Formats: sequence, C-alpha cells, structure tokens
Amino acid sequence: VPAGIDLKEEINKLRKEKNAVILAHYYQTAEIQDIADFVGDSLALAQWAAKTTADILVLCGVHFMGETAKILCPNKKVLVPDLNAGCSLADSCPASEFETFVKEHPGHTVISYVNTSAAVKALTDIVVTSTNARQIVESLPVDEKIIFGPDRNLGSYINSITGRNMLLWNGACHVHEQFSLEKILELKKQHPGAEVICHPECRKYIVEISDYVGSTAGLLKHVIKSSGKQFIVATESGVLHEMRKACPDKEFIPAPPNDSTCACNECNFMRLNTMEKLYNTLKYELPEIFVDEAIQQKAIRPIQRMLDISA
Ligand code: 13P
Ligand code: SF4
Repeated sequence: VPAGIDLKEEINKLRKEKNAVILAHYYQTAEIQDIADFVGDSLALAQWAAKTTADILVLCGVHFMGETAKILCPNKKVLVPDLNAGCSLADSCPASEFETFVKEHPGHTVISYVNTSAAVKALTDIVVTSTNARQIVESLPVDEKIIFGPDRNLGSYINSITGRNMLLWNGACHVHEQFSLEKILELKKQHPGAEVICHPECRKYIVEISDYVGSTAGLLKHVIKSSGKQFIVATESGVLHEMRKACPDKEFIPAPPNDSTCACNECNFMRLNTMEKLYNTLKYELPEIFVDEAIQQKAIRPIQRMLDISA
C-alpha cells in the first residue's frame, strides 16, 4: 500500500470503477464493517450474493463465506482479502471423513451448517445457518433420520428445541468453545440486570444460562427490541460494533473467555482481514476464490434449497 494514501477514499474509488461490492460479516473490524456496502450474518451474505448485479464481490469474512458466494455466482469474480482466513469449525470436518460418516449411516438426510468447505456441501442435502437451522429441521417430517454437521453445539441445541434426535458430527468452533461459565456468572453478579445472550455455537452450559440464543443477526435484532439496558454477549466481539451503533443508550459487555491472557473472543481468522488488504484486493483483484466445477454443481443444490426454504 503506497504511503500516505487515504484508504477509504481509494477503496471507494476502486469499487465504483470496477462495479464491485464489499460484503462484510459482523465479526469484521469496525472500519471494514463501516466501509462495506452490506453487513450481515452468513445467511444474509449468501442471500445478498445470490441477487447482486455487481461484477466483483469482495467477501470480508472467512473462506467458506467467499466459497458460498462463488458457488452461487460461478460467473462472477469473488475476492477475499486474505485466503488464510479459514474457520476452525469448517476445518473440523474434512470432506473425506464426512463422506465415510455419511456412507456409514445410509438413509439419513444430510444437513450441513454453512461453516463447511464446498466439498462438504457437495455431500449435503440441505445447508443451514444458525438463523434458519430450526426452521429447516422443522420443515422435515418428524420421523426423518438426519445427520447434522459439523457443529456439535449447534446440533445439540437444535435437537433440544425441536425434540429431534439428529446424529451429530463432533466438530466445534474454537472461539465459541472458549467462553467461561464462571466468569460470565461473576459478571452477572456485578450486573444483576444484564441479559446474557449467546450464539448457539457456544457450549451447552453457556446456552443453558442464556436469556436469548441466536445467530449474529438474531442477537442484533434481539438487543434492538429488548427493553433490557445491559447485555453480556457470548459470541465473537466484532458484533458489538453494530449493537453499539444501533443502541447507543445500551451497554454491551463482551463475555470473557477462559484464558484471560488472550483476545480469545476475537476470531483470529476473521481478524486477518484489514483495510490495507481490502485495498490491495480491490486494486489487484486478488486473491480470488475458485471452486471446482463438479463440486460447484453439487454444492449449489443444498444452498439453493436453504435459500428457497428461508425466503
Ligand atoms: P452467523 O451465521 O450467526 O453470522 O455465524 C457465523 C459464524 O461464523 C459464527 O461463528
Ligand atoms: Fe469459524 Fe468460529 Fe471464526 Fe465463526 S468464529 S468463522 S465458526 S472459527
């Protein structure tokens, strides 16, 4: 990046020149969220990608989000600021092992969380996000046999609220598994009026003490409509930016992780994206996301099925 340039101004110029849109997830840094054309949860990012008329999509999030956009728009250029922005949850489900698991359990409908590689989506019947997982599971007959992967926490939460008995893949997110029950209860004592809200990727003991459980978009909607004034938020702390913008009179406290010496409630993958990298991505149109054509053709079906059910 040339010294002394105004990054915001250059990014604005480049996106206009190239008919590019910048889509950002709620876990991005505040400055990336503020410059994006659209900020949303995983479902909204996929919905947006499916309908945009832009020539170039820059997905500021993690790799599977870029891949999902590319699967939906194979003829568009999909760029990400850093190809190393992976996801520990997606990595906990290698496609070859998942394929064996599916083969070992014939007669099951395969539901995959969107936090998966394109190759895992190609083995899937319906993709879900945390916004629509309940709705999609409930849209299937009660006696349907279901495999749910890869997040065991989201899967067991959905089992508990729907009364289903889905067979779960044993995967998890390293950020959401880190929240400390003890420290959250301690915070609750200091702020007795505060609501605890969490993402369903959190462990069961965090879900059980939470007043509200939802996706990033769900959490944001909840704090806007709640009469509560203080919230202890158990998810990646990037989402607090939108919460504070939407509710300047309310207080948002990031839930503490077990290890207080690290910023473990920040997703190190999400935070690889920076304004400098975003500028370079727009300028050089790199790095680009590619998905093998055979995989793309299989993976688009379960994503489209999700979009149709949640429309
Ligand atoms: P949302 O779909 O709720 O935005 O979650 C994405 C994610 O990566 C959670 O860790
Ligand atoms: Fe993946 Fe967890 Fe990061 Fe979300 S917070 S992108 S699930 S590693």
